[in-house]
Amino acid sequence: MKFLALLPLLCFLGCSYSVKNNLDAQQQLGVCSEIVLSAVDDLEVNEGFPRAVKEGDYAWTCTGHTAWTSGFFPGLLWYLYEHSHNDFLKLKAEAYTENLKPVKELAWGTHDLGFMMFCSAGNAYRITGDEKYKSWLLETADSLAGLFNPDVGTIHSWPWMKNKRGWPHNTIIDNMMNLELLFWASKNGGSQRLYDIAVSHAQSTLKNQFRDDFSTYHVVVYDNQSPKVLSRITDQGFADESVWSRGQSWAIYGFAMCYRETGLPEFKEAAVNAADYYLSGLPEDYVPYWDFKLPDFKEEEKDASAAAIAASGMLELAKLSDNPDEKKRFKEAAVKTLNSLSSEEYLSGETMAILDHSVGSKPHGNEIDVPLVYADYYYVEALMRLKKWF
Ligand code: GLY
Repeated sequence: MKFLALLPLLCFLGCSYSVKNNLDAQQQLGVCSEIVLSAVDDLEVNEGFPRAVKEGDYAWTCTGHTAWTSGFFPGLLWYLYEHSHNDFLKLKAEAYTENLKPVKELAWGTHDLGFMMFCSAGNAYRITGDEKYKSWLLETADSLAGLFNPDVGTIHSWPWMKNKRGWPHNTIIDNMMNLELLFWASKNGGSQRLYDIAVSHAQSTLKNQFRDDFSTYHVVVYDNQSPKVLSRITDQGFADESVWSRGQSWAIYGFAMCYRETGLPEFKEAAVNAADYYLSGLPEDYVPYWDFKLPDFKEEEKDASAAAIAASGMLELAKLSDNPDEKKRFKEAAVKTLNSLSSEEYLSGETMAILDHSVGSKPHGNEIDVPLVYADYYYVEALMRLKKWF
């Protein structure tokens, strides 16, 4: 209920629904800090890791450490501590991150280790320099590398699909995001092999996961003894030949990050092309529907998480690009997106979350039109990038 008290402030700061070219990131981060401070005050760390708010609920529903989303709430706390220097946020960030320590031992079970450990302990190490986090990150990077299949050239996503669906080896576009942990580890005491794995994964994804118009496939199923592609399909999108919005956002962000880490122009080109495809399919408010190719958009849901991820990725791209047109195009698009997300339409207001209106997986009937923790994480990350870089 106490979030109702914040509503006038939220509206004062973000009510207008226009997609403006400027945004006071500092001020908006202040609003986010207040919301998250209230939330952590009401949550027990040992209840688990916030993931989603069910329709009609106020509080986060939490998961155990093995959920792919477990690192986002600790990471959100670290970003907002970095912004506000509030010691209570730091205390809670440390406590949530501590509870993620077992992730480093999830050897070879999931490709999501980067999401889980880099968003949490990665930010913790960057901000505090505590060597404990560094050792967790290095150990987790080695676990993730255990899923790399050199005969295919990619990290195995969803290993359980081998038995469940008979896929010998699969790679999902989301997995681009986990490469950041490998690049980081190779620069911080890990082996060169981690860098080589990340580059191989990104090059194979670039070759096999894009269509000619630079839209992306969600899942590529490979043979497991050669790089032969068996099928290109979707799991969370509308159809195999449609374009799942969050997948396109993962591609923008993932390839921009790979360009930052390698300097390879093919990765920058991939990020630019993925972003231009994304921008060409947006509705007026810069927040995509959950899929770009729905037969009828009436009655369909928007996905604020896809918008937040794309905004953060486009800011990275704008920062890295030395082409003035690209810099302007992607920065403006990111700011317009963040403005829209900062409006009354998308701010949650009545829950513990910052943003509402995300979609986990429509085809599975999961988490439709609700607050999701990764939308909040990438929204705040994008605001931090805007505040620091521009
Ligand atoms: N990586 C899972 C998702 O984007 O839903």
